[in-house]
Amino acid sequence: MGDEAVVVRRREDGATELRVNGVFVMDDVETSSERLLAEHVLDDGAREVLVGGLGLGYTARALLDGGATRVVVAELHPEVVRAVADGAGAGPFDDDRLSVVVGDVADVVTAQPPAGLDAICLDVDNGPDFLVHPANAALYETPMIERCARALRDDGVLAIWSMADSAPLRTALAGRFEHVEAAAVPVRLQGRDERYWVLSGRRPRR
Ligand SMILES: C[S@@+](CC[C@H](N)C(=O)[O-])C[C@H]1O[C@@H](n2cnc3c(N)ncnc32)[C@H](O)[C@@H]1O
Repeated sequence: MGDEAVVVRRREDGATELRVNGVFVMDDVETSSERLLAEHVLDDGAREVLVGGLGLGYTARALLDGGATRVVVAELHPEVVRAVADGAGAGPFDDDRLSVVVGDVADVVTAQPPAGLDAICLDVDNGPDFLVHPANAALYETPMIERCARALRDDGVLAIWSMADSAPLRTALAGRFEHVEAAAVPVRLQGRDERYWVLSGRRPRR
């Protein structure tokens, strides 16, 4: 994933857009599902949260606005971190509660002390069936789910943004968490009603 072309640009319609290798990742027009990912874990009382994927910063911003006390964001691409620091999307951030680590979220999760986080929000790709980075397939599989479970407190939650519901992902979550949920998020995209999904696991099995 090291040689990818990452572009954060202002479109003619005024929107800011993130593309990787020519593939659309997100823009700042419809960000309700990114913010809902944060609300999902805040509603569970999460205050110390790791986020996979900075993107345009809406999940991180919603966590901070919602009262999180520590937010660690893992972002693969330094260009994305720079663009947000320069004011793209929900940036810039000037908040001591936030730290951004440039790297793969799998490595950042693995480096966490056991049972130290209330929540992990994963929004690094479009979900297991619509990958921008083929290498991210492993992030939706059991070994990664297991690493996340290990990094979470007993009442912790792992929330995963996905373009579609995924039975294999729900099964992987059920293997490591006591409660699994798939919540549809209605969104309006270019005049059409669509749904995104947040799949989550609560209470890691020890
Ligand atoms: C859809 S965006 C995240 C949107 C974000 N939730 C927001 O609120 O704007 C996905 C982000 O994950 C990053 N990413 C992709 N694969 C990653 C990985 N393996 N580890 C960390 N970040 C990754 C991408 O560069 C991109 O910035």
